[in-house]
Order: sequence, then C-alpha cells, then structure tokens
Amino acid sequence: MSKLTQSPAWQVLLAHQSQINNQTMREMFAADAARFDKFSLQLDGLLFDYSKNRINDQTLKLLLDLARQAGVSEWTARMFGGDKINTSENRAVLHTALRAPRDAVVMVDGKNVVPDVHRVLDHIRRYTESVRNGELRGYTGKPLRHIVNIGIGGSALGPLMVCEALKPYGHPEMQAHFISNVDATDIVETLRHLDAETTLFIVSSKTFTTQETLTNARSARAWLVEKLGAEAAVANHFAAVSTNLKATGEFGINPEHVFEFWDWVGGRYSLWSAIGLPIALFIGMDNFERLLGGARAMDEHFQSAPLERNMPVILGMLGVWYGNFFGAGSYAVLPYDQYLHRLPAYLQQLEMESNGKCVDRAGQPVDYDTHFTVWGEPGTNGQHSFYQLIHQGTRMVPADFMAPIRSHNSLGEHHAMLLSNCLAQTEALMLGKTEAEARAELEAQGLSGEALETLLPFKLFPGNRPTNTMLFDLLDPHTLGMLIALYEHKIFVQGVVWNINSFDQWGVEYGKQLAGKLLPELQGKVALSAHDASTTNLLKRCLSAR
Ligand code: F6P
Repeated sequence: MSKLTQSPAWQVLLAHQSQINNQTMREMFAADAARFDKFSLQLDGLLFDYSKNRINDQTLKLLLDLARQAGVSEWTARMFGGDKINTSENRAVLHTALRAPRDAVVMVDGKNVVPDVHRVLDHIRRYTESVRNGELRGYTGKPLRHIVNIGIGGSALGPLMVCEALKPYGHPEMQAHFISNVDATDIVETLRHLDAETTLFIVSSKTFTTQETLTNARSARAWLVEKLGAEAAVANHFAAVSTNLKATGEFGINPEHVFEFWDWVGGRYSLWSAIGLPIALFIGMDNFERLLGGARAMDEHFQSAPLERNMPVILGMLGVWYGNFFGAGSYAVLPYDQYLHRLPAYLQQLEMESNGKCVDRAGQPVDYDTHFTVWGEPGTNGQHSFYQLIHQGTRMVPADFMAPIRSHNSLGEHHAMLLSNCLAQTEALMLGKTEAEARAELEAQGLSGEALETLLPFKLFPGNRPTNTMLFDLLDPHTLGMLIALYEHKIFVQGVVWNINSFDQWGVEYGKQLAGKLLPELQGKVALSAHDASTTNLLKRCLSAR
C-alpha cells in the first residue's frame, strides 16, 4: 500500500465514508437549517454552493485534514514562488505570474519574470489596438477582420472557449476562427468562407514543432499567397505565438508580429499568456485585462483564504471524496449558459492531461485512482440526452452546474426557463423521489392496482446524487477569469493530494511517436515494418484503397 492510502487521514476518511454512505442529503438538509450558509462561499459575485454534497461537518474536516497532510498550502506557496515543481521537465509552474500585477516580483532562476510578462502584454496591447482600429491592415489595404488561430490543445482550446464565452464583448466586425485538426477538412471548411484580404492568421504553438499546427500553417500560408498573388502578403497576414522564437523566424513570420512566452507556462494553462492573442484581438485588451483580473482575484483567494473557506481547495477535495471514496469514475460539467458550450472540452484537456497519471512524483505506480473522465454539454440539451443516467443510472456521476442570473440575451421567458431547469435538476438529483411520493403521484393521475404497481419501479429516483452549483450575475470577463482559475487551482489541489506531477504530459508522446513511424509506411514510401496483426491489416486496407 502507498503512503497515501496507509496514511491516518485517508484511513479515517475510509471509515467515515461507510458511516455517511447510509445517510441522505434529504435528511441532512432537513436536520440543519444552516446547511446552505455553512456549505457555500462567495467571491466577487461568484456563489459556490456545495451544500448538495454527501458531506457533513465531519466530512469536511476530514477532507481538509487530508489536504493538510498532503501539504496543499506548502505546495501552493512553492508554485506561486516559482519553485521548479514540474520535476520531470525541470520547470517552474507560473501561469499565475501571467496575471500578476506590474509591481509583483516572481523569481525564476534568479530573474524576476513579471517585467517580461508586462512587456509582452504591452506588445499585445499595441498590436491588437492597431489591428482593431484598422491602422494595421492587410496587404491590399483592407482591415483585418477574420482572426484565424492555428494551434492545437492548449494552444487552441483556451482561446476558443474564451472567445465563445465572451462573444457579447467581441468587436462587432470581427470573427474568431480556430483551426486545430490535421484533418484537411478543418482548414478547408474554415477558409472556404473567408476573404484572404481580411484574414489574419495566428500560428500558436508553445514548441513550434507540433505536426498538426505546422502542417496547417504551411497550408494557410500557401492559400494566402495564392489568393493574394504575393509572398510579401505574409508579413501583414501572419502573427505567431511561441516560446521558440528561432522556429518562428525560420517560418518567416515578421519578428514584430511574434509574441513570446516562456517554458514555465504549461500549454493547457497558457490562455493568459500571448496564447490569448486571439482573445485580446476579439474582445479588446481592456477586456482581456479584466479576464486576467478575475483570475488574479481567484489566485489571491486561493493563496490567502483558510482551507475551510477556500473554493479551489473545497472543490478539489470534493472530487477526491467521490473519486477515491465512492468510486466515481467520471464527473460532468453542465453549464447553463450557451456561451460556455466549449467549457467541457477545455476542462477535458486541463483536467485529464494534468491529472490523468498512474505514477507518483517519484515515478512509483499509485494504488489509488487519480483523475476522473470529464464530460458535459451545455444547458438543457444534456437533459434530453444523458441526464437519464445521472438520475437513474447505477453509477454516481458528480456534476458541476453553473449559470448566470442575468443573460446577455433577454428574450421573453427564455432565461427564467433556463434557470428554473438548472435549479430543478440539482434539486431533483439531491432529493430523489421516494416510493411513497411516486405512488401518490400515480394515484393523483388516476392509476391504481396492477397498472400502478407495474409502473411504480420506473418512477423512483434514488436521489442523493451530488452536485455543485456556481451561480454568478452575468458571464463577463472578470467572472470567467475567476471560474477558469478556480478549476486550475482545483486540479492543482487534487494533484497534490494524489502526489502526482500535474504539469507534464508524457502520455501524449507515444502515439505521436508511432504515428511518425506509420506515416511513411502509409504513404508507400517505405516497406511495412512489423506491427501487430490488427495494425498490419488496417494499414494494408488503407494502402489497397489508395
Ligand atoms: O499533445 C499535447 C500537447 O503537448 C499539449 O500539452 C499542448 O497544449 C499541445 O500539445 C500543443 O503543443 P504546442 O503548443 O507546442 O503546439
């Protein structure tokens, strides 16, 4: 057994789980009028209600004991202080420095990194303002109005999710597009509707070696040159964001349009850096800074609030509670805001690439579960699809609900209906429906006898299904910044408890390596090498069809 599963805090939680397993939240709410006040927190208008969880005062105390035992506060100080806690890559983890105020000091290898952060932010401001106000134009003199981000994973999902989420703040004449997939369909279908004269490509890649991104960038460049008839057009129509300035130079991007970031920014934590360039172009630099400000507010809260009142710590420990002590294998992200429709996809990378690990920091196999599968869909769409399983399936699926109190689009009763659905779902999941309640309902509908008894089992809801609710006034840049940073820090807390490195991603390498070997075989450039029978026959089938 590992040190973690043998530890006193873990063992006490195991015993506690078997006690609380028989209790229902319905009973807990009935017994404690102060439950909501006790189990909810607020920060800058963001209300985090975690009262609909299978916890009592003792559970929370024991979960926080586990967080203390794991050293969550100490690790937090090390991360914010620039220690190289990403040990397998020998890197500091400082996405928090990207939203630090100008006068902050964060040292990495004896150098304060904050002045560099603000130098790049100033560069982004100058560039985005000149594009937005039409000073910097395309090769033929037209304003650049279609921003096309070419990047994948962390160099796409964050900017895409934020540009979608903050659409109401977008420049009225601008549109943001995202090309990620090496599948030609992605670029072909995106460019089909665009006018090269008004299109600005941003090639975003931390390493500037990623196959998908460089292939798409080369195709985009060829498209532009063909449409505008001049190589010289590339200077105005391309910008790049990378830590690899040598490679951006070799690609031929005008150095004035190259935006730098640093190896201490993880790809999936990079939307706050120059990787956020498409966001700043689309919503303007003032709004981008409001987004950074929201994240900074969450950073300050995370660093200073006691564990008992600390949102990321509590959210993280609730995940540990269900994942490790109730055997939940997945959790759902359910935004009741259409603008957040890409949040589940963004969180999939953030969470699963960070904490989907099977060895601990020392490289030893773990004997406990690490991260959940993350999935979700916005609003009521999910209700007519997979909520059946959340309500009546055999597995527990903890879920995070989130909703704005006011909508950017007030239209008739839409928003009241949306909110009523959100609140109704968490209430139903918590309460369930007892046999007596279901029976009474059926009787009220005029059923009796065998007909009633036959239908009854299908009408029961076990309930006691845990949810969190994040409620906020309006989805604005500050709130979104807080929300994203809340999840970033929650993941960090869980990684600390699981004693894993949340900031490397070696698991994505192997497939890339094998694809590199398969490509020339698939192109018929080299003979087939030895593969398993399945891969060999799939390859042969592809080759025979070419
Ligand atoms: O394949 C995984 C990954 O390394 C992610 O972690 C990263 O966000 C993505 O690829 C893109 O990498 P890059 O920004 O270097 O192109």
